Amino acid sequence: MRHPMVSSPSMGEERWGWEGCNELRQEVEGHPSNLLTSSSFKKKTIMAFFKVEKLSISFGGLDALSNINFEVQEGQIFSIIGPNGAGKTTLFNCINGIYRPSRGRIVFKDREIQGRRPDKVARMGIARTFQNIELFAHMSTMENLMLGRHRYMKTGLFRGAFMWGRRSFAGKEEVANRKKVEEIIDLLDLQSVRNKFVGGLPYGTQKQVELGRALALEPQLLLLDEPSAGMNSEEKQDMIFWIKDIQDTLKVTILLIEHDMKMVMDISDRVLVINFGSPIVEGTPEEVQRNPEVLKAYLGEENAIRDIA
Ligand SMILES: Nc1ncnc2c1ncn2[C@@H]1O[C@H](COP(=O)(O)OP(=O)(O)OP(=O)(O)O)[C@@H](O)[C@H]1O
Ligand SMILES: [Mg+2]
Repeated sequence: MRHPMVSSPSMGEERWGWEGCNELRQEVEGHPSNLLTSSSFKKKTIMAFFKVEKLSISFGGLDALSNINFEVQEGQIFSIIGPNGAGKTTLFNCINGIYRPSRGRIVFKDREIQGRRPDKVARMGIARTFQNIELFAHMSTMENLMLGRHRYMKTGLFRGAFMWGRRSFAGKEEVANRKKVEEIIDLLDLQSVRNKFVGGLPYGTQKQVELGRALALEPQLLLLDEPSAGMNSEEKQDMIFWIKDIQDTLKVTILLIEHDMKMVMDISDRVLVINFGSPIVEGTPEEVQRNPEVLKAYLGEENAIRDIA
């Protein structure tokens, strides 16, 4: 049975001065000599947007993840694939603070985030969707998306209750947040279900709402755990379109866990393959498809990979 809840960030906001780093990077890349003359420029240029270093976690005697390393550049779609039980969801749980890794570092925009609480990680700009949808089944699409706006709500429910009217601070905040949610509803084509209870919607539409709830946080890094699982081919095509649109239009960096190999190979900039919690290979989709270890690890899914090669 699906758990009728949503994991949402809490109030408050924290923004740092990442803006301008792209300009710095362009400036340095345009003038290679600068690399030699300015160590601070060099530091900004080589800094990865997101990076995982020597990450490990065990449950009892089981090493669910061992020595995972990868880097993601800003704006990329970076996919994590591997057979069932490989450790993919565990990796997301370490990133968004549900699990505390036993060893290693997770660095987002030059800040270590391993071991931070999920609401803190969300406030830093990392949102996620879940393999098993986590939404409030008895709330409407609109209400579920509004919950994703918690990061931007300075007025708590209690305080807000004493500040009625559209011209009050709470009222203005509500209007601004609704406007943002309306944009997401338009982006994901959710107009027809905006006032419907989420629990009664088809599975594919619930997945869309969950994507919308994650986007409501206005994340800079979005973790998608099997976004197209259980969808028919038409719904999958829509999901691919939206993921690309989120990358291109909203400029969001995406970590994607997905079993649909065609989708992974079509939209990923880079792919990491893990098996039994250990990394097998990391590279471009073409490099990964050619890797014999990957074909071996997938066994039953070997044909799926061959089909698209
Ligand atoms: N809280 C936990 N306690 C004990 N074992 C766990 C826990 N979380 C994950 N595991 C184990 O870690 C391993 C990796 O699980 P995980 O859910 O990350 O796999 P996955 O790659 O996401 O698989 P799937 O493709 O089926 O979703 C599994 O053996 C799982 O049973
Ligand atoms: Mg999983």
